[in-house]
Amino acid sequence: MGKGIFQSFPYGIMSGMQFDAKALRLRLTGRKIGCPFHYRETVDSTNRFAMELARGGAPEGTVVLADRQTAGMGRLQRVWQSPPGCNLYLSVILRPAVAPSEISQITLLAGVAIAEAIAAICPAGVGIKWPNDVRIRGRKVCGILAEMATAGGSSAVILGIGLNVNIKSENFDQGHRDTATSLREETGREHSREDVAFLLCESLESWYETFMHAGFAPVREEWLALSDMQGKRVRVLFRDEVQEGTVAGIDRDGALLLADGRGDVRRITAGDATIEKG
Ligand code: BTN
Repeated sequence: MGKGIFQSFPYGIMSGMQFDAKALRLRLTGRKIGCPFHYRETVDSTNRFAMELARGGAPEGTVVLADRQTAGMGRLQRVWQSPPGCNLYLSVILRPAVAPSEISQITLLAGVAIAEAIAAICPAGVGIKWPNDVRIRGRKVCGILAEMATAGGSSAVILGIGLNVNIKSENFDQGHRDTATSLREETGREHSREDVAFLLCESLESWYETFMHAGFAPVREEWLALSDMQGKRVRVLFRDEVQEGTVAGIDRDGALLLADGRGDVRRITAGDATIEKG
């Protein structure tokens, strides 16, 4: 089990800041993403909860949001530590007509939508790192976990988003203090989680509609514009295998393109990328 960002966060320290779920539900009424809207003060994982709802036939656009998760999940079996009163933990049920192999495109789409929403709050330094991180000045502010849910003949994508909104850097786990950030740390002020969640849902809805009508090409174009990896040397770890090279973009399917300097370009479809310093 990997270590999460908030490994040693003392629960309850920010519990005075109650999430106004009623107000957010009202603002989301009638929209495609966020209606219906389920709020829980505490849940094990919003992805797991949304998975259950999806298997029971919940409609596309259903959002599950929690103030706190007790078993928040990151990619590659990592823990996503989820203290109360400060961040956003939400999952969206989508039902796109895509093959399981294309689910990574939904992750990339979400990265674009989230980066744009965040840039409206914090205009400088927002970037996307393949495959699932949104960063500010090179520090992770948001992680995305897309999973497939199947039941009977139907399937859904559960799009999980963990966004650091008001957490202070001193409350990050020691091991992540130099690599993680929050909107509060970057802007020097607190933000309404309801407003940020609304912005996220709006941006996701707009990019999801673009994807459904025009496919992955416009998402790819914007992803390349927002990526902070282009031309950088990276190491990609997948299971026990390490691939190294210079980022040459993503292809039409969303795979990372790595140039090896001898004219060969490899497609990487899964893994954890680390950008080399210097
Ligand atoms: C990552 O960067 O490893 C992905 C992190 C995804 C975390 C979010 S929080 C809301 C949703 N519920 C979960 O259990 N995980 C995702």
